[in-house]
Amino acid sequence: MVMMNQGALLSWYRRVERPLPWRLNPSPWSILLSEILLQQTQMERGIRYHTALLERFPTVQSMAESSVDEVLHLWQGAGYYSRARRLHALAVEVVQSHGGVLPEDYDSLLKLPGIGPYTAAAVASIAFMEPVACVDGNIRRVMARQTNQEEPSPTQVQSFANEQLHENAPGDWNQAMMELGALLCRPRNPSCEECPVHDTCLGRSRARELPRPKKIKKKTEQYNCIVRVDDRGLPELHQRPDTGLFAGLWGPEMGSDLGTEGCDHVGTIRHLLSHRELIVSVWKSKGKNGIDSETVALSTLDRRILELVGLL
Ligand code: ADE
Repeated sequence: MVMMNQGALLSWYRRVERPLPWRLNPSPWSILLSEILLQQTQMERGIRYHTALLERFPTVQSMAESSVDEVLHLWQGAGYYSRARRLHALAVEVVQSHGGVLPEDYDSLLKLPGIGPYTAAAVASIAFMEPVACVDGNIRRVMARQTNQEEPSPTQVQSFANEQLHENAPGDWNQAMMELGALLCRPRNPSCEECPVHDTCLGRSRARELPRPKKIKKKTEQYNCIVRVDDRGLPELHQRPDTGLFAGLWGPEMGSDLGTEGCDHVGTIRHLLSHRELIVSVWKSKGKNGIDSETVALSTLDRRILELVGLL
């Protein structure tokens, strides 16, 4: 096993690290929130949602005392709404079973709702200095290039991360690896000349080809959506069930076998999710008891639908 130059990577990180809100003003709750958001959300957007959520929910208690609907409302547009539902469940559990204090070790964190191996390791190392290595897409790319492997398995990536971990600065080390992947060891256009660990990089001559992209075959699903508009110009909106697509969010009636007799066709929307492509045929008709769409949590798809109909 070739060891990366830990000192070089850490001092590079400490020089260039981005001034992220949870770095400037760290607390375990703020760090946990950031790691949950950043797993499936780009940095810029993650920062915006982190700021809004932390302002409304400065402590785990404040979230536990709120409703899941309020969390979903602030989560609007961030996607992967099950994360918001599980975060609320986590807050409730921390208050009920841990006296309102986040557990401080990897194993206990891993037992909380919505916390997988990545988040448990990130929070345990960054907030509590526990020497555990985390693995995300950035670290997988750094590993694939350092070791010159096209398709490293999750076990291989985890072993690499475990072996390279700087035990005395695990939080900075994990973040330095992610920062390297985000800022220099980028997917398409890596800056190998500036890399503090290029001397150990076996894949440097073909970094662009590593790792080989995973083929994700998106499943296509067809839906009809009927927007029923009342005399005041407000749409009928319903809260979606607690499981399935956009669970707990609000929106107009949507289904794959929805009859559309007597409705006017407005247009078709193609909406991409991580593993699915939704083709939504949008219809309009007369309705009653519409509601103000700003008062409820809507998915980005539902916003696009209401925009298409001219209601947003
Ligand atoms: N991506 C997710 N968490 C991160 C962190 N703490 N630092 C840099 N990039 C990240």
